[in-house]
Amino acid sequence: MSETREIFETMGYGPAPEGAEPAMEWLDARGRRFGLFVNGAWTHPSDAERFDTLNPATGAPLASISQGSEGEVDQAVRAARRAFAEWSSRPGHERARFLYALARHIQKHSRLFSVLETLDNGKPIREARDIDIPLVARHFYHHAGWAQLLTDEFPGHEPVGVVGQVIPWNFPLLMLAWKVAPALAAGNTVVLKPAEFTSLTALLFAEACQAIGLPPGVFNVVTGDGRTGAALVAHPDIDKVAFTGSTEVGRLIRTATAGSGKKLSLELGGKSPFVVFDDADLDSVVEGVVDAIWFNQGQVCCAGSRILVHEGIAEDLERKLKARMEKLRIGNPLDKAVDMGAIVDESQLERIREMVSRGAEEGATVWHPQGGLPQEGWFYPPTLCTNVQPTDLLAQEEVFGPVVAMMTFRTPGEAVELANNSRYGLAASVWTENRNLALDVAPAIKAGTVWINSTNVFDAASGFGGYRESGYGREGGKEGMYEYLRPSAAAGPPGGEDAPREEDRPVLRTVEPEPVAAVDPGTSVDRTLKHYVGGKQVRPDSGYSLWLKSAEGRMVAEVGRGNRKDVRNAVEAAARASRTWGGTTAHARAQILYFLAENLSLRSEELRGRLRGLGIHGDAAEREVEASVQRLFGYAAWADKWEGRVHRTPFRNVTLAMPEPMGVMGIVPAPNPPLLGLVSAVAPAIAMGNTVVVLALEGAALAAGDLYQVLETSDVPPGVVNLVTGLEEELLPTLADHDAIDALWYFGSRHGSREVELRSVGNMKRTWVDYGRPRDWFSQEQGQGEEFLREAVQVKNIWIPYGE
Ligand code: NAI
Repeated sequence: MSETREIFETMGYGPAPEGAEPAMEWLDARGRRFGLFVNGAWTHPSDAERFDTLNPATGAPLASISQGSEGEVDQAVRAARRAFAEWSSRPGHERARFLYALARHIQKHSRLFSVLETLDNGKPIREARDIDIPLVARHFYHHAGWAQLLTDEFPGHEPVGVVGQVIPWNFPLLMLAWKVAPALAAGNTVVLKPAEFTSLTALLFAEACQAIGLPPGVFNVVTGDGRTGAALVAHPDIDKVAFTGSTEVGRLIRTATAGSGKKLSLELGGKSPFVVFDDADLDSVVEGVVDAIWFNQGQVCCAGSRILVHEGIAEDLERKLKARMEKLRIGNPLDKAVDMGAIVDESQLERIREMVSRGAEEGATVWHPQGGLPQEGWFYPPTLCTNVQPTDLLAQEEVFGPVVAMMTFRTPGEAVELANNSRYGLAASVWTENRNLALDVAPAIKAGTVWINSTNVFDAASGFGGYRESGYGREGGKEGMYEYLRPSAAAGPPGGEDAPREEDRPVLRTVEPEPVAAVDPGTSVDRTLKHYVGGKQVRPDSGYSLWLKSAEGRMVAEVGRGNRKDVRNAVEAAARASRTWGGTTAHARAQILYFLAENLSLRSEELRGRLRGLGIHGDAAEREVEASVQRLFGYAAWADKWEGRVHRTPFRNVTLAMPEPMGVMGIVPAPNPPLLGLVSAVAPAIAMGNTVVVLALEGAALAAGDLYQVLETSDVPPGVVNLVTGLEEELLPTLADHDAIDALWYFGSRHGSREVELRSVGNMKRTWVDYGRPRDWFSQEQGQGEEFLREAVQVKNIWIPYGE
C-alpha cells in the first residue's frame, strides 16, 4: 500500500466543533426563560404552565418555554386582527421591503440561527448552516418579490385575513419561513405556533421582526404543545389554518375546522418511494439514499423511505449501501464533520425503536453498521431493512427516523405500481440514465414532487405539497401564493347554519312521490329521468322514484331515487374511465367539449322551453341556455391552455410544474340555475382530465336529463361524466366517504359543506365548498374562471437536473 493511500485509509477525524457560545449567550441574556411574542412585544414569562426545551444531543434543558393558554391565543389573534387592516392595505412594495429586511437580517445572523437550531433540534450543524438557514433567507427574498408583484401577478385577489400556522419540529425555522413568508407577502397577519420540542428559533425570529421594525401584531408567536395548537385552530377569528405535521393531527384539524369557512392547507406525512432502475449510476444512487433517508436523521416528511430497486441490481446496491453506511459518522451535531445528529426527543426515539422491532417481527431483516452511538442523548443508527413485503408496516407507515425499507421490482410498470401502493403521495425520486424512462415514470407516480436523479432538493420558487393523504395545498412558487389569497369577487360571508334563504331556494324541489299522479299539464314532459352511469342510462338500484316539484308545487318530472349502491357504481365507472381520460391529450378534450357545446346549442330551443316550464320566465331561460353554451366553449378553450410553468430554481435543473388532474371528482352542483349550475361545475373538471360523479339534486336533476342526452351524442367517453339523482341526505354521505373520490366540490348550504369537509378525512380528499355563500353563476368572476381550473388540478413539480 502506498504511503499516501495508507494515511488516507487510516487517518481518523479530529473533532471540529462549531462553538455553541453565541446561542448560549443569547439564551443566558434572556434568563433562559421565554414568554410569548404578541403584538410586537414579549409577554411576561409567567409562572403559569411551562415546559423545558431540551438539547437532544445531551438531554440537558436549554430554556423554559411558556405553554400558551386559550386566553393567550385569543390575545394573539386579536392583535393580528387589529394589525390586518393596516398591513393588508399597504402597497406591496412596502411589504416587500419588510420581507427583504427579514432575509437580510437572517443572513447576517445566520450563525446564531444555525447553532440555535442545531442545539434545539439535534440536526447536524452542517445541515442547519448549509441547507436550512440559507433556504430560510431564500424564502424571504423570493416572497419579497411576490409582495412587490402582487397586484400585477394576482389581479382580482385579496389576502385571506388572519392566519393560524402550526408547524413541526423537523425543520423548525424552515417550516416557519415556508409559511410566514407567503402569508406576509400576500398581506395576511400571522399567529404561529411552533412545535413544542423546537420553539427557540421561532422566538429568535420574533426578535428579528422587532429588529427590522415589523409593525406590531403582524407576526405573533404562541408557544405550547398540541393544546395550544388546537386552541389556535379552533379560534373563531382565524380565516385560514396552515399546518405541517402528522396525518393524524391533520385529520383532527380538518375535523375541527369543518364548516367554519376557514381556508385550510395541510402538509402531512409521506412514505416516499426511491425508485432505482437497472441502468442507474449506482454510486450516485448510494449518495442519493444518504440524502434521502439519513438527512436530518430521516425526520423528513418527504424522506425516501422505500427503496424500490430493479431486482437485477438489488444485491449490488445493498452491498454498496452497507459499505457507505459503515462510513456515516453519528455524533455531536455541532461537530462539522458529523453526518447524522440526534433524534429530536426521547419519545420519538422510542417510536422509531418500536416501529423497527414491529417490522422485524413481521419478518424484516434489520441491519445497522457496527459503529457505536454516543452514550448520552437520543441517537439512532442508520438502518437498512430488507425482506420487507409491500403490505408490511415498514413499507406502509411513516417511521420518521433513519430507517429505510428495500424492495425489488422487475418491470417499470411494477415499479410504478409499488411506488403508488401507498396512502401517501408527497414525493418520489427516480434514478435512471434513461431520460425517456424517467419522464415516462414521473407523471405516473402519484406524488406532489418527483426528483429525477436527485432527492430532497427544495427551493422557494418551486411548489411543494402532497397528493392523497399527504395533504393538499402547495408551499412555495406561484402556486403556493394562492394558499394565502382568495378571489375578491367570491368573498361574501358564509351562509347561516339554518335552511337556505327564500331567494336561494331551488327552483325545483325533490320530494317523496304522492299517491295520485298530478303531472302538470303545463309542462311538455311527463319525464322519467334515470341515472347516467358508465355511458348508459340506468334505473336506480332501489327501483324507486322521486318527484320534482316546481316552486308553485307542480310536479314536473319523476327522477330516480339513487342510493349508496348507485353512487358506488358511478364511482367505479368514473375510476375506470379515469385511466384513459386523464391521459387523453388536452387538444382531444377540447374538441370533445366544443362538440358538446355545439350539441347543446342545437337543442337550445327545447332547453329554453323546459326552463320556462320550470317557471324561469322572460329572457332568463334564453340567457341561461346561452350562458351554458358559452361556458362549455370557455372550458374547451381552456382545456389546452391551462399550462404549467418552468420554475426558476437556482440549480442546474429544469423544474417543471405540471398541472395534473385530481383523478375522480365528486361534484354537487348548485341546483339553481339548473342547467348553468350543472355545466359550470362539470365542464372545468372534465376539461382538466378528471372524471366526475355528479349528484344532480333538485333542479340539477332535470338539467342532468338534458345533459346526458347531449353527452350520448357528443363523443364523451363512457364513465367520464356520471350523473346520479336523488336526495342529498341519502347520497352525499356515500360520495363524501368514498375513498376512490380524490376531490369533492359542493355548491350548496353551509350544513352540507360541513358534512363534506367532515367526511373528507377518510382519505383526506381535497374539498371545495361554498358554505352557503350565494354565487352568481352568470357572472364572469364568480361563475367561471381560473379558480375552477386551479381546484380541478394538482400541481406536480418534476425536478430534472442537467449537465455532467
Ligand atoms: P404532530 O403532528 O403531533 O405535531 C406537529 C405540530 O402540531 C406540533 O406543533 C404540535 O404541537 C401540533 N399539534 C399537535 N396536536 C395538535 C392539535 N390537536 N391541533 C393543532 N395542533 C396540534 O407530530 P408529532 O407528534 O410531533 O410527531 C408524530 C409523528 O408525526 C412523527 O413521528 C411523524 O411520523 C409525523 N410527523 C410528520 C411531519 C411531517 O412533516 N410530515 C412533521 C412532524 C411529525
